[in-house]
Amino acid sequence: MEKLMISGGRPLQGMVSISGAKNSAIALIPAAILAESEVILDNLPLLSDVAVYAEILEELGAKVAWEGSQMRIDPSAIKSIPMPNGPVKKLRASYYMMGAMLGRFKEAVVGLPGGCNFEPRPIDQHIKGFEALGATVTNEHGSIHLHAKELRGTKIYLDVSSVGATINIMLAAARAKGATIIENAAKEPEIIDVATLLNSMGAVIKGAGTETIRIEGVSELHGCRHSIIPDRIQAGTYMIAAAATRGDVLIDNVIPKHLEAITAKMQEMGVVIEEFDESIRVKGAPSYEHVDVKALIYPGFATDLQSPMTSLLTQARGVSVLSDFVYSNRFKHVPELVRMGAKIRVEGRSAIIEGGNLNAAKVKAADLRAGAALVIAGLTVEDGVTEVTGVEYIDRGYDHLVSNLRMLGADVWRQSE
Ligand code: EPU
Repeated sequence: MEKLMISGGRPLQGMVSISGAKNSAIALIPAAILAESEVILDNLPLLSDVAVYAEILEELGAKVAWEGSQMRIDPSAIKSIPMPNGPVKKLRASYYMMGAMLGRFKEAVVGLPGGCNFEPRPIDQHIKGFEALGATVTNEHGSIHLHAKELRGTKIYLDVSSVGATINIMLAAARAKGATIIENAAKEPEIIDVATLLNSMGAVIKGAGTETIRIEGVSELHGCRHSIIPDRIQAGTYMIAAAATRGDVLIDNVIPKHLEAITAKMQEMGVVIEEFDESIRVKGAPSYEHVDVKALIYPGFATDLQSPMTSLLTQARGVSVLSDFVYSNRFKHVPELVRMGAKIRVEGRSAIIEGGNLNAAKVKAADLRAGAALVIAGLTVEDGVTEVTGVEYIDRGYDHLVSNLRMLGADVWRQSE
């Protein structure tokens, strides 16, 4: 096991280039199962979750060649094999195996997902969608069994606009008979990315990015080449790190439109932000104003940036209130930040944060974004070395984090525990 060591107090300076989006990649890889010939994915992030997904597809008989930021997936020899255990258990997003396998083989057995369990994360809306399409879904000893004679298009109204359920239903419906309409669909950019890939494979999907998505089922899908969108959460994390250290960083290979909510909130605090076509420059200021933040579904402030933002708000004057309306209890980073001297209390779904300096401490990342919050907190500490354990969570979502931070002038290194 490794830990991250951070000797903070240095403003981040320079340029960082953002990799492809994790939450797209781990939906696009299983989407390739639906094709009959090779799918090439470019701009793939180098992450442990991506490696696990490659392993899952190989277990099913796909040929996977992963070199640098490109993955070639030949799904032509894939077989319908039950996956109650094994790598599917390591990933939350293994739930996409349900939609992809159901879409191709009309059956699937997938062990209930693992991943970041910061709170119970139900999949009832995914199951409601599969059932509406004609599948029988049962939970047998911790595995979801899905089976359908045929999948038929239908209208599905999601009770919550879930990213995972929206994508999973698109995967299952792409090769169903007739038209499927998803109402109250999630609008996150990753959903558009998945629809773009499926359309390049021959699917007919309209409305992705709006709350109504229409999928005309087709009998067969073919291979294609697709470049993954930049990771808006990694980009937002570097924006926050640049501001928290009072640095000056150009964040390249981003879509500024995807970062509007975080940009607006940071400007409200007094951070100087310049937007270019495919990059954003973040310049820190000596002091920041407190702000209130509400994490919401897209295009609202991303819940995945809520934990990193908590660390930035410890650097603002006065009291900020940060509420998460997507997850009610995503605050595992708070007790660890308190260990570092932060004055934060959690009330219901809000963290109340009083600005002040942080101290070096030994802290533990309990999930991916909590880990990012602790790294940012460590970067702000003037004296001493902050030790962050739970690095395996951080490696799930941040491509080249240590080398990127070092390139920006941070004194960060990995050490064996
Ligand atoms: N929900 C339900 N029932 C469902 C599905 C979701 O009640 O069947 C609820 C959830 O409990 C939550 C809300 O709906 O309160 C939104 O959940 P959603 O389904 O949108 O989340 P997800 O698809 O499981 C993805 C990302 C998360 C990100 C959320 C919200 C992936 C693999 N994960 O999760 O990313 O927080 O959308 O944007 O795409 C991360 O990257 O750190 C991460 C956790």
